[in-house]
Amino acid sequence: MSSIKKILITGGAGFIGSHVVRRIVNRYPDYMIFNLDKLTYAGNLENLKDIESASNYQFVKMDITDSDAINNLFETHQFDGVIHLAAESHVDRSISHPMEFVMTNVIGTVNLLNAAKNIWKDNFNGKVFYHVSTDEVYGELSDEGKFTETTPYSPNSPYSASKASSDHFVRAYHHTYGLPIKLSNCSNNYGSHHFPEKLIPLMINNIMNSKPLPVYGKGENVRDWLFVEDHASAIDLIFHEGKLGETFNIGGNNEWKNIDLVRLLCKMMDSKLGKAIGESEKLITYVGDRAGHDFRYAIDSSKLMQQLGWMPSVTFEQGLERTVDWYLANPEWLEHVTSGAYKEYYQNMYSKR
Ligand code: NAD
Ligand code: TYD
Repeated sequence: MSSIKKILITGGAGFIGSHVVRRIVNRYPDYMIFNLDKLTYAGNLENLKDIESASNYQFVKMDITDSDAINNLFETHQFDGVIHLAAESHVDRSISHPMEFVMTNVIGTVNLLNAAKNIWKDNFNGKVFYHVSTDEVYGELSDEGKFTETTPYSPNSPYSASKASSDHFVRAYHHTYGLPIKLSNCSNNYGSHHFPEKLIPLMINNIMNSKPLPVYGKGENVRDWLFVEDHASAIDLIFHEGKLGETFNIGGNNEWKNIDLVRLLCKMMDSKLGKAIGESEKLITYVGDRAGHDFRYAIDSSKLMQQLGWMPSVTFEQGLERTVDWYLANPEWLEHVTSGAYKEYYQNMYSKR
């Protein structure tokens, strides 16, 4: 794999992508990293301030649905590897705007696959197309069991259906054309630079501002939470050492009912903000449930652990504390991303529940 020099990372201005870009730029000074991002509401170059002037880093503003621009970029730079994270990623938005998910997640992914296939032609030696996906493609679990790499796909939301479709195209390009692909399906991530439309950053932001904490339904749905830097370390490992054509599941072995997680955050933040314990919990407000709300996700990561020796680096309590501390220390980041369009989004999403 030492032949890899020019790496394209898509979606690198987003939450997980920015952690992946930072890690790869810092760890591989002999690589040239191109970060391609459209900079949607979820993409923010502030996330990468610390590495933006690194000599092995370049930002490219581009939309992956623009096939001409994508083909030209591949022609110009002749990438050796692709780590594809660009996506529309929020389930609630997929319920109100499914077509945007089809365009970016399905069409955009196929554009990238075509560009890689055309530029690499039949000489796939040393090349890698790594597609980053979600455990939500497997559908929902009841109280028992975990998703493994062989669990049949059964996506329930427009988001997970679009990611499942992109996964199928990635596998099909491997099967049909021999494209050297890798795929991973990860559980819910949390950490710094996470846009406050997802559960954990939204609750942190609302606790900081003493706003109601909207818990969907009865709060009994279960998610398996992984610290984002541990997802980035798994992506790095799989990109370099994972077997071509294979899928790896990545998870935190860390299941929480939403309501228990929100209560934990309330306690942690009350003590950090100098509030009386119990104060933030009073903000919890049960709201109408999400349409088609998946009950439970849980991931079996034993293949990744056994084959590649991956281990999460932090416990949930450590990771959550680091996350909360980051948001408390960076109120201006939250202010920037929650001004303007965010207010309108929030009003539309939560006033009708
Ligand atoms: P995000 O929404 O924070 O970031 C997505 C990035 O993609 C943004 O920077 C955005 O500007 C960019 N983007 C969107 N549409 C684009 C387009 N048409 N062209 C170019 N760039 C575009 O998402 P995230 O949470 O960082 O997720 C990254 C990837 O990881 C996604 O593929 C997602 O499905 C997957 N994933 C996320 C989680 C999670 O918990 N967040 C878990 C497992 C897998
Ligand atoms: P989310 O962070 O949107 O991730 P996903 O739906 O992809 O798992 O939501 C995580 C869980 O939290 C999910 O069960 C929905 C729930 N949730 C709330 O209860 N309130 C909220 O305001 C949000 C955004 C999510």
